[in-house]
Amino acid sequence: MQKKTVKIGAIGLSGRGSGMLDLLLDVEGVVCPAVCDVVPERAAHGVEIVKNKPSYTGYEVRSYLDYREMLTKEDLDAVYIATTWITHSRIAEFAMRHGVHAGIEVGGAASIEECWQLVRASEETGKFCMLMENCCYDRKEMALFKMVKQGLFGEIIHCEGGYRHDLRDEISLGRENIHGRLYNFMRRNGELYPTHQLGPICKLLDINRGNRMVSLVSMASKSRGLNEWIRQNKGEDYDLYGYPFNEGDVVTTLIKCANGETVTLTHDCCLPRPYCRDYCIQGTKGTFKEATERELRFALEGVTESTHGYEDFTERLPEFEHPLWREYLGEGVKKGHGGMDFLVLSAFAEAVGLDEKPPIDVYDTAAMMAVTCLSEQSVAMGSMPVPIPDFTNGMWIDREPYRRGKYCLEEVCEDCFEGTED
Ligand SMILES: NC(=O)c1ccc[n+]([C@@H]2O[C@H](COP(=O)([O-])OP(=O)(O)OC[C@H]3O[C@@H](n4cnc5c(N)ncnc54)[C@H](O)[C@@H]3O)[C@@H](O)[C@H]2O)c1
Repeated sequence: MQKKTVKIGAIGLSGRGSGMLDLLLDVEGVVCPAVCDVVPERAAHGVEIVKNKPSYTGYEVRSYLDYREMLTKEDLDAVYIATTWITHSRIAEFAMRHGVHAGIEVGGAASIEECWQLVRASEETGKFCMLMENCCYDRKEMALFKMVKQGLFGEIIHCEGGYRHDLRDEISLGRENIHGRLYNFMRRNGELYPTHQLGPICKLLDINRGNRMVSLVSMASKSRGLNEWIRQNKGEDYDLYGYPFNEGDVVTTLIKCANGETVTLTHDCCLPRPYCRDYCIQGTKGTFKEATERELRFALEGVTESTHGYEDFTERLPEFEHPLWREYLGEGVKKGHGGMDFLVLSAFAEAVGLDEKPPIDVYDTAAMMAVTCLSEQSVAMGSMPVPIPDFTNGMWIDREPYRRGKYCLEEVCEDCFEGTED
């Protein structure tokens, strides 16, 4: 039975964490009695966010600088973690071992051991760890998910995705803005941020439920973009000018799945360019292609006039609307990356309230995060293929059933929505 009130703590309250905390408090039944950030002003700001919400009912809100103290002292149902890529897992593991569910912001793993630690903590405690991959809940991704599950693409053969986002200022000014990305780009070289498009792709391909990612190869270009930005914007006297950044400007990764599909991922954050996630789905009946963020195209047998030319997808999207978005559009879409942030938070809060499996579980989380450290290994070894571990330990061939519901990412559960035609 769903709890009336779920107590969720928030750890990491910079740009992402504070925005998401504000939105989380709009989810029915959520209260946040504890917030944490190592930067005292940010922790204090977290308290303000909670207290300034119109829904705030006057409960006590405590702030912490140390997540261990918070998790030891507080009686929470879950924590939402938006710290840095190299701290998400250790905080999530600590949380699960202290009896609370964990939702972690997106980012890749630094080691395979880190992924196993998450899996073991979840299996041993019965607490879940959900990667908060908001892109799984974006409107177009959900419509495409529904189309794939309806068989409109035929059998899926190949998918592509990317994180192509000009972050030169955010990365270069990481010390001034106390932002976590900079040191990763200075010292690492690989697919640092794989999950925005990999999340929806894994769900299309039934990864960890009848399919899995088995191996990958990665190749990194040279690195020039950050230095050029620093030269133009900070000058040649700035201490990072000429720094030999390790991260290649464009890192390309190719993944092979057990059922034969291939997936290409592109990481591209250091060159001037418009934002794009480069989504592409190719099946035996046709293709979807994100040419730019706003130019979505498709060619599908029996759906578009021809498969030799593309048609505009955005115009026709309402025909394929996922019922979650149909309902959401009716109720009023909330702010946060076009609305998807509120949906992923709602999915997380629902699983916490029910004390049930989340739609993105610890096996999905581990498999997706592992792509980062495996791609670093591949790049370091001259693009050698590296195996991707099976974090389900064989269960992917015959898993226990998933939990059906509105936020389900395994099938479209039309019957869970009131008044749905289709
Ligand atoms: N899903 C999305 O669309 C989306 C968008 C933006 C950011 N993100 C992700 O959210 C995370 C946070 O992003 P950001 O831009 O706010 O990063 P950031 O580096 O600006 O902020 C991280 C915050 O965590 C705090 N922190 C670090 N270690 C901590 C610890 N051990 N205990 C408590 N607090 C700690 C820092 O002081 C800082 O306030 C990143 O993983 C990022 O990739 C996701």
